[in-house]
Amino acid sequence: MEAPRSLLITLFLLAAAAAPGAGSSVPEASFPVGPERRAHLQFYIHDKVSSPNATAVNVAFGPSGRIPSSTALNFASLFVVDDLLTVGPDPSSKAIGRARGFYAVSSLNGVDLYFTVQVIFTDGPYKGSSLAVIARDPITEPVRELPVVGGTGIFRLARGFAFMRTHQFNVTTRDAVLYVDAYILHH
Ligand SMILES: *[C@@H]1O[C@H](CO)[C@@H](O)[C@H](O)[C@H]1NC(C)=O
Ligand SMILES: *[C@@H]1O[C@H](CO)[C@@H](O)[C@H](O)[C@H]1NC(C)=O
Repeated sequence: MEAPRSLLITLFLLAAAAAPGAGSSVPEASFPVGPERRAHLQFYIHDKVSSPNATAVNVAFGPSGRIPSSTALNFASLFVVDDLLTVGPDPSSKAIGRARGFYAVSSLNGVDLYFTVQVIFTDGPYKGSSLAVIARDPITEPVRELPVVGGTGIFRLARGFAFMRTHQFNVTTRDAVLYVDAYILHH
């Protein structure tokens, strides 16, 4: 018993030496978090499923297949997205970022999505920062509330919520324009 225990202690001491400061408290001045602030953001997401240049791609699907059976999506379909974010509903209005991640059709009746994206700002006041969204998206409801669970850059330690509405949905192409109104606390 003695040999393994001393080995563990040796390993612990080596690890501690390799990572100075690990586990110790960090002085307030060198902890890179400022006072709490608030942000209110409004933008549009262009979820383009149709070709060419689709930004939402159905990469996997369940037993009902790839093609949507009706106005609902098919249960177990998985889409990977790199959707454009703009300041206005027109896709040619000023671009401010991308929403990258995926959504899965997570209800048997095809109307609930499980939606997880990183919202990455590439222009405007939040350029270089991002927000993490993990949400249920019941697509037939007029307003969905999405939890914002984190962020980077300006949005460090972010938490908040966003209201999302379908601004436009083309039943032929299935392309959607979504309006997002977000309230964020961050540091
Ligand atoms: C698709 O993307 C290519 C390359 O960026 C571009 O030249 C083309 O105009 C786009 N097509 C449409 C319909 O947006
Ligand atoms: C839906 O998309 C099709 C194909 O691009 C287009 O012809 C049609 O006008 C669009 N419908 C609406 C309501 O925008």
